[in-house]
This record gives sequence, C-alpha cells and structure tokens, in this order.
Amino acid sequence: MNKYKLSLAPIKIGKTLLKNKIVCSPVGINMSETDGKITNKEIGYFENLAKNNLGMIIVGNATVSNMGKGTLNEIVIGKPFHLPQLKKLADTIKKYGTVACIQIAHKGAQGNSKYTGERVVGPSKYIVPDIGIEAEVLTIDEIKEIENEYVNAIVQADEAGFDFIEIMSAHGYLVHQFLSEHTNKREDEYGGCENNRLRFLKNIIEKVKNKVDTSKLAAKITGNDFIPKGLNFKKIRFLIDMLDSYKFAYYQVTAGIYETAKQKYIHMKKGAYWEYAKELKKLTNTPVMAQGGITSLEEGEKILSNKQGDFWGMAQALIADPQLVTKTINDKEDEIYKCLAHIKVGSCHRCRYLKQKDLDFACVTPGSWSADLTNKINLAKRKKDLNYWNKVISNLK
Ligand SMILES: Cc1cc2nc3c(=O)[nH]c(=O)nc-3n(C[C@H](O)[C@H](O)[C@H](O)COP(=O)(O)O)c2cc1C
Ligand code: SF4
Repeated sequence: MNKYKLSLAPIKIGKTLLKNKIVCSPVGINMSETDGKITNKEIGYFENLAKNNLGMIIVGNATVSNMGKGTLNEIVIGKPFHLPQLKKLADTIKKYGTVACIQIAHKGAQGNSKYTGERVVGPSKYIVPDIGIEAEVLTIDEIKEIENEYVNAIVQADEAGFDFIEIMSAHGYLVHQFLSEHTNKREDEYGGCENNRLRFLKNIIEKVKNKVDTSKLAAKITGNDFIPKGLNFKKIRFLIDMLDSYKFAYYQVTAGIYETAKQKYIHMKKGAYWEYAKELKKLTNTPVMAQGGITSLEEGEKILSNKQGDFWGMAQALIADPQLVTKTINDKEDEIYKCLAHIKVGSCHRCRYLKQKDLDFACVTPGSWSADLTNKINLAKRKKDLNYWNKVISNLK
C-alpha cells in the first residue's frame, strides 16, 4: 500500500526483523490466575492481535513478584510454574510472523495492597495521592532481592522464546522511582547522584548480561513525568548513555506517572509524546518507538516522515479494534471502530481502570476483542453495542 509505505516496510531492530513498523504497545490485560500464571484467555487476546498484521506485540506488565503487582490478576514471571504458558504465549504470537516482546515491571510505591494484599514498597517513603498508602522504604537486602527477581524474570522471558524483553522504566514504576529524585531520597548507594540512582537498573543488567544477550533488551522510558524534580528528555542523558553502553535494542517513549495522570492525557492528545521521541532520537542512535495517542496508519506515517520515531505503536486504538491494520490494508478504513478516549480525552476509561478484581478486561466498542467473544454467543448484542457506540461517537464529535 503506497500511501503507508514507510509504516508497512520492514525494520531491523537489533538482530530481529519486524515485518512492518507497527507495534501493539504494551497493555496489561489483567486476566492471569492470581498466582500470575498466564491464562488461555489471555493468549487468545494476543493471538487475535497477532493475526492482524502487526510487526511486533509487546505483552504488558509481566511483574517480577506478587509484591510488584498493582492488581490481582497481572502476569507474574520468574517461577518455574510460569514457564509453560509464557512459552505458549510467545509461540502463539510468533506463529503469525509477529515479533514477540514482553515487558517486565514492578509497581513499587505505586502498588495498592487493597487489590493485591501485598506490602507497598519503594526507594523512599512516598504516597500516590489517589491511592493514599505510604510506601515502606526498601532495605538494601530487599533491593538486592528484587534485582534478582528481575534477573529471573528476564532469563525466563528469554527461555520462553520472546524476541525482546522490555524493562519498564517509566510511568512511575519501581525503576523510574529509583531514577527520579522525586521518589528517591535515599542517602545510601542507591540514592543521590545520577550514578547512584542508576544503580538499581544497572545492577539488574550487570547480573543478567552473562545469561541473556543484552541486545535483546529494550526499555520504556519517560520523555516527561511532569514533576519538577522528576525526569524529562533533558534530564535522561545519564540513563540513555548507560543503556546504550549495553546495546539495548530500542527505546519507546512515554510520559507521566500516576500522580500526573491528568496532565499526561492532555499532553498525549496534543502529540507531545512524539516530540519527546524526536528529542530522544537526538541523544542516541538506538531505534526509538513513538507512541501515545496514535489512532491510524495515517498518523503513524506522518510520525515517520517527520522523523519523530523509527517505528510506532498503538495501545487503545488496537483494543478498540484489533483489526485496525488489516482493515486499513484492505482499504476498509471507514469500518474501523475508534477508541472513544482518542476522540475526547476522559470520555472513556473502561479498559484502563481495572482495579477491581472482578472487573474483566473489556472495551465498549463493537469491534473489540471482548465484543467479538460475546458476539459469538449473542449476535443481538453486537447490534446493541453498535447502537451504543454510534450514539456516544456522535455525541462526542
Ligand atoms: C488497558 C491498558 C493497559 C495498559 N498497560 C500498560 C502496561 O502494562 N505497560 C505499559 O507500559 N503501558 C501500558 N499502557 C499504556 C499504553 O502502552 C500506552 O502507552 C498508552 O495507552 C498510550 O498509548 P495509546 O494512545 O496508543 O493508547 C496501558 C494502556 C491501557 C489502555
Ligand atoms: S474501553 Fe474505552 S478507552 Fe479503552 S479502548 Fe475501548 S473505547 Fe478506548
């Protein structure tokens, strides 16, 4: 398709070829067993995406321990019993010629014991205003234990067959908490100067480098967390230089932390994330993935032409319609179901706020995966969904 020739052309990232430059950005879909084991339902979700012409899928939020979770049904990675389903997930994605990546995370001080029943911990005392639980300060021994959990997780992801392993270093999660002076007020070797704030992440990479090829590693990093003492693209040179020295495969650029969620959506809508990606490209030769508020191949193509990224990803647009790329390639763009949040900021958060353990991952559009499953059982529901979605869309416009 000539119109989107940049996006639809292959790209080599590290040692791996992506068949096109379109990525499913990481989403945590909260469908695992309570012990973190991936379910077949979860694999079905990603399979449905893999069938639909994506260059790469990043499985979101695989957490290194139960303590690192933010909700009850997140993926946990690293224990022997997690391996078989992880393998099945990687194989399923790759079966369709789509590159498989998994993101490794720990919520740290942004955790919520109300949903997980676990302690909330961080580099320093910190309270997420909307959660209201004060994080306990990690001891040095506990930090080293978590570093080892990251190592187990990365080694297991590699063993399961994932092509890339992305270390979540943004959104105010534990790695970000160590990197930022806003959340890291330690006075020992893990806090203070840049080298000390890098130590947690650097130790993980040092411990893993003889077990996994570091050119399979990647990172999600912040272009701006909207916190005066926090991080932005002008203040992450120390991080990028360190990751570059290990030959990381790619960086994807995001923004915000839980505390600044409202600002982040407004900036995202204005395309600010793509500008952060462009700024990051000035700091490194490592490929940069732009993301945040991309709704179509047309927008992705502009990002590539404007050199705001080397490849690009979508999360919500693909939740709302997993067939978005397929429909575009087949000249059926007018049949794409749009994400409501992309039409109007704040108009829908159905998929995002899955905090309650009984709330299943679902989207309100008639084209979403959840609707697809339901519709196999109840065709009448599709009509009802479609009417509802059309009504909301016309009210938002
Ligand atoms: C339901 C949902 C779950 C998400 N889970 C993750 C996650 O696990 N890891 C992550 O880095 N980002 C996660 N995100 C953020 C997306 O990857 C993406 O950065 C954000 O939604 C903005 O991109 P979009 O406008 O294409 O949705 C999630 C977003 C949604 C909507
Ligand atoms: S649930 Fe709402 S915010 Fe999430 S993808 Fe669907 S329309 Fe968008």
